Amino acid sequence: MSHRITIFDTTLRDGEQSPGCSMNLEEKVRMARQLDALGVDVIEAGFPIASEDDYRAVHAVAREVRRPVIAALARTTRDDIERAWRAIEPAARPRLHTFVATSDLHIQHKLRKTRDEVLDMTVEAVRLARSFTADVEFSAEDATRSDIEFLCRVVAAAVEAGATTINIPDTVGYTVPSEFSRIIRTLQERVTGVRNAVLSVHCHNDLGLAVANSVAAVEAGARQVECTVNGIGERAGNASLEEIVMALYVRRDILPFATGVVTAEIYKSSQLLSSITGMHVQANKAVVGKNAFAHEAGIHQDGVLKERRTYEIMTPESVGIKTNRLVLGKHSGRHALGKKLADLGYPLARPDLDRAYTRFIEIADQKKEIFDEDLIAIVHDGMRDVPEVFRMKSLQASAGTQKPSTATVILEAEGRERVACAVGDGPVAAAYTAIDSITGFRGRLLDYSIRAVSRGRDAIGEVSVHVDFDGRTFTGKAASTDVVDASARAYLHAVNKGLGLARALDAAETPRPLPLAAGRAADRARGELQVAPRAQKQAAETREDEALGGPTRVAGSEGQIRLISLV
Ligand code: KIV
Ligand code: ZN
Repeated sequence: MSHRITIFDTTLRDGEQSPGCSMNLEEKVRMARQLDALGVDVIEAGFPIASEDDYRAVHAVAREVRRPVIAALARTTRDDIERAWRAIEPAARPRLHTFVATSDLHIQHKLRKTRDEVLDMTVEAVRLARSFTADVEFSAEDATRSDIEFLCRVVAAAVEAGATTINIPDTVGYTVPSEFSRIIRTLQERVTGVRNAVLSVHCHNDLGLAVANSVAAVEAGARQVECTVNGIGERAGNASLEEIVMALYVRRDILPFATGVVTAEIYKSSQLLSSITGMHVQANKAVVGKNAFAHEAGIHQDGVLKERRTYEIMTPESVGIKTNRLVLGKHSGRHALGKKLADLGYPLARPDLDRAYTRFIEIADQKKEIFDEDLIAIVHDGMRDVPEVFRMKSLQASAGTQKPSTATVILEAEGRERVACAVGDGPVAAAYTAIDSITGFRGRLLDYSIRAVSRGRDAIGEVSVHVDFDGRTFTGKAASTDVVDASARAYLHAVNKGLGLARALDAAETPRPLPLAAGRAADRARGELQVAPRAQKQAAETREDEALGGPTRVAGSEGQIRLISLV
């Protein structure tokens, strides 16, 4: 008989709080829908006290994703717990997750409290959470570096106060499998009440042991595992969902545990997350990496051709990687594209299918063979997570050994076209400068990455950017056979996200100040780009200044691409 393991997904909370992984409300909801399709049991949607954005995103997920339990994180304070509760109140199955640190290191240096105070905080927080909902999880932060006697007392107190799940985090990825199993066993032996709760684990990957530690804990009696898609999370990340699920599945001969995860949705979830965050999965990543099922060595290829199982312990199909290579070309119709995308796990309805078809035809004109990876990139490129306030109408850029490069950009906003020309030390820098001068945003490029989604010289290039606008970071992504076009549209995607947020905050009439540029650009877009005549003149003069060799734009801190002094 196999025991059912609860999969608690914290991609949208612990994963999202790691650098470069932040998501906006629409992205969180889209990812939450995919986690639902993936079959996770619990979605931890965020930490509502952390920011207004986080509160709203958790609230939206709670309203819209109905099957899984929706959890929200809170420290032990009343404010945190009440705010978390307000965020998840609309959920069909809400869970409050409260935590406090139990290691002396954290208690003395971070919290500046005593052990007794931590015990009191635990009890009060769990009781308060229970006054809102019957589903309450308590986490003993830094449990693996806590004194085991004290950890047992805290866990006993939490269960006594009404916690229904007790989570034992390895917050800094410090433990090893043998030690972690011992901790889990000790808790079960010494805290009798713990059998009335679900024992959970939450492992970080600082030593690369998060999955091994989680599996060891399951063998020792844990029945909930906390994890993230692609293993994203603080520092080296959290235990990777796909690795845990597939380890339990592939080794079910010696691990009598089952999850509710639909393994065929794993690859799609991984792709969607990396498309949203712009954080690519390393090629040799277990289960979902590009090379996870590639056999390079001749001896391996020979073995696999004769009998797949010689070098494959699971099939690509079992995690949703389709190997069927029905090739589409520019004569393929909308219906064939729709069917192929549905086979790949992307059943698109109109107008998304129309948008994907338009992109598909553009790309089919430039590319001989269209691979599955190309189609997936086209779908992600066409996903409109924010309204396109500014839309790329055309882009012409020059590049080469003769500097500077030039770019001419035409953007459309609310039915009107605006043109700008700029120069830079490369075509991308020039295009970004031209976009800035039309939108009024001054973006600081924090990160820029590009990858070929498939093979061949005519492969589609997928560009991801992280751009800072007045202290707020937005991600942008686009794909094209022309990498300058992809770079410019990825940047514009980030601009439109900034505007989307500004508008959403305006609509919510949030008293918090907006990021300056977001507010300014929102005003411009809202007023049908009605810049006051004086301001318009100034802006025109600035552009003229720039074209004539105006002020030097920021250099160095911009990441790989510098916006240089305009000649
Ligand atoms: O790593 C950790 O300790 C956490 C807790 C808040 C569960 O993320
Ligand atoms: Zn964590």
